[in-house]
Amino acid sequence: MSTHTEETIALDRRHVAHNYAPLPVVAASALGAWITDVDGRRYLDCLAAYSAVNFGHRNPEVTAAAHAQLDTLTLVSRAFHSDRLAPFCAALAQLCGKDMVLPMNSGAEAVESAIKVARKWGADVKGVPAGQGTIIVARNNFHGRTTTIISFSDDDTARRGFGPYTPGFRRVEFGDADALAGAIDDHTVAVLLEPIQGEAGIVVPPG
Ligand SMILES: Cc1ncc(COP(=O)(O)O)c(C=O)c1O
Repeated sequence: MSTHTEETIALDRRHVAHNYAPLPVVAASALGAWITDVDGRRYLDCLAAYSAVNFGHRNPEVTAAAHAQLDTLTLVSRAFHSDRLAPFCAALAQLCGKDMVLPMNSGAEAVESAIKVARKWGADVKGVPAGQGTIIVARNNFHGRTTTIISFSDDDTARRGFGPYTPGFRRVEFGDADALAGAIDDHTVAVLLEPIQGEAGIVVPPG
């Protein structure tokens, strides 16, 4: 390891919260599928920021759109309408065959919102008594790191020390359709599954 790499990692250890264990690579720039580190070594990026840059680092269409927007209107919050949000949601809704879209900044927020939507639907539409809706999840799931999401994880490193946990979840074996069907009852408001489990390995459910 070079001095530059070592010094940066040492600074990271001192000042960046120890909530992650990165590989000992200090990225300095990237283009397409290739990352260059601070010493000029090149790496083929097979992670793509856990799919956030599946379109490639510095994809020219994406960066051009981002630059153009920053030069036009930075942020309005949801206190105002913007001329971009409605057309974006309309296009995404059409692509997904849905009526409405609620954009989120991260996967964990998306899952949190889905949990809230399901619970409210359970109470308001299905008629589940208040506070008694249950959501069925799979063993060895990974859906993010918020307090509610780690409450239904069975990964000790994600959970330990963060209780008290959010109730209302029931775990079944991933890929066991009979166990899943058997877990559904009058209080079930949703089933929450990864189509292919990622953090648990690459676990493809049986066909
Ligand atoms: C299946 C799955 N759901 C949710 C998340 C959480 O996404 P985020 O880190 O953007 O909150 C991840 C992150 O890796 C994930 O793999």
